[in-house]
Amino acid sequence: MIERRFKTRSVNGTLAIGQNVAELMLPAPKLIVLRGELGAGKTTLVKGIATFLGAAEPEDVTSPTFTLVHSYQGKTIRLYHLDLYRLETERELLTLGIDEMAAEPDALVLVEWGEKFPSIVARADGEIAIEHGDGDERMFFVRVK
Ligand SMILES: Nc1ncnc2c1ncn2[C@@H]1O[C@H](COP(=O)(O)OP(=O)(O)OP(=O)(O)O)[C@@H](O)[C@H]1O
Ligand SMILES: [Mg+2]
Repeated sequence: MIERRFKTRSVNGTLAIGQNVAELMLPAPKLIVLRGELGAGKTTLVKGIATFLGAAEPEDVTSPTFTLVHSYQGKTIRLYHLDLYRLETERELLTLGIDEMAAEPDALVLVEWGEKFPSIVARADGEIAIEHGDGDERMFFVRVK
């Protein structure tokens, strides 16, 4: 088990932390739950991770709130970014095919609001918990198997 903490006071700091976090996510395949309240910075962190992996520019990574899944092809990693905030049942979850994504040998599957679903927590390889401090301060707690 790898455990790391990071702290920043800016959006750019979170983007930079995304690069450190991305290194901790290797090797693929992995499924990671991103935990943290609305506006904690989960999607912002994914922007940083995607940039480091050569999968997308930060401005091209948008929240999959309505589409539920976005994917980006990196140099060696295929990044799947999910947001399950609007999903309610395990039955709806099945239609997304998360197991198939996570079974791809080069997949990194990052799941916002994954902690809502016990089946996801059970199969996750780790989690990134984000705590909202005062103002723009954010703390990141990374645990990876
Ligand atoms: N240090 C910081 N890191 C990330 N975001 C920050 C920071 N400081 C302020 N913010 C602001 O907080 C918000 C974070 O939004 P983001 O979409 O990343 O959150 P989220 O956790 O994905 O939320 P949601 O659960 O709604 O998807 C943005 O409006 C951003 O400008
Ligand atoms: Mg988000």
